[in-house]
Amino acid sequence: MKNIAVFTSGGDSPGMNACIRAVVRTGLHMGLKVFGIRNGYEGMIDGEIFEMNAHSVSGIIQQGGTILRSARSPRFMTQEGRKRAASNLREQGIEGLVAIGGDGTFTGANVFLGEFPEFSIMGAPGTIDNDLFGTDYTIGYDTAINTAMAAIDNIKDTANAHSRLFFVEVMGRDAGFIALRSAISTGAEAVLIPESKTNVQSLIDTLKDSHSNKKNASIVIVAEGDDAGGAFEIADLVKQHIDYRDVRVTILGHVQRGGRPTCMERVRASQMGVSAVRALLDGESGKMVGIVHRDITYTPFEQAIKHHEEINPALVELVEILG
Ligand code: F6P
Repeated sequence: MKNIAVFTSGGDSPGMNACIRAVVRTGLHMGLKVFGIRNGYEGMIDGEIFEMNAHSVSGIIQQGGTILRSARSPRFMTQEGRKRAASNLREQGIEGLVAIGGDGTFTGANVFLGEFPEFSIMGAPGTIDNDLFGTDYTIGYDTAINTAMAAIDNIKDTANAHSRLFFVEVMGRDAGFIALRSAISTGAEAVLIPESKTNVQSLIDTLKDSHSNKKNASIVIVAEGDDAGGAFEIADLVKQHIDYRDVRVTILGHVQRGGRPTCMERVRASQMGVSAVRALLDGESGKMVGIVHRDITYTPFEQAIKHHEEINPALVELVEILG
């Protein structure tokens, strides 16, 4: 293998730049030509492919977002789109790719490899949601939980000042990892996550109990994918039964997606980028690099996207005991 390319796809996440940097510098170190593809699969289809050098990735390790930019690509879901992408890669002599993204990215990569087995693709898990199987951490997750924690700390100050009940909605799509960590780290009263059925009546009881225990203010963290609805809907239901507190709702939203990656993020993203290139050179393809405990692992795309690591019930219990 002489030429490889790297791209980021789907929702961006802090640490993607550290991973891009690691891929580029490792490739060059191994004597390869390294290309960048702009705008994920969209750029692959439109031929936005350019050669990178060590300087192309200078000064980016501390930046959130992705210098290669990202996109969700409906065109790559068509055979015509994938054909054009393959022909653009062939034109540049690219044989190996590192795809940094989440389940949509790896689903696309898997279909592509089925049709064009001449290419090799390794994935690096880039999503704030932490919702991939085969890794303890996805790139962006650690920064996102720290961002959410800092924002909720601020909300707690004002909640306490006004003795209010806040519902704070965090991201995570169908997974409750961000919600659970945010809840524990901010001492929230309760957390509602998609992995367990939400019982609004028992939430109301918990909140009433804490009121009788003279708690001044309360924070409830709601994962955006919760089965009982979003934070506004749940707050509306609860409000009907709690007349002793002013209720407010905050949706943290995309603030969780940006910002300077944490130290751990940069380190893990660098490890994964290096390992992805090494794996390509070792003849691997169709797998996602992960870190399980402290070891680098490789999980086939179809397994990585099927389900995510389980929520630890002991952590859910922690919110119940300590909240
Ligand atoms: O997958 C990352 C994520 O931020 C999810 O947490 C969220 O549901 C989704 O992307 C938002 O996507 P978009 O930026 O396209 O609105």
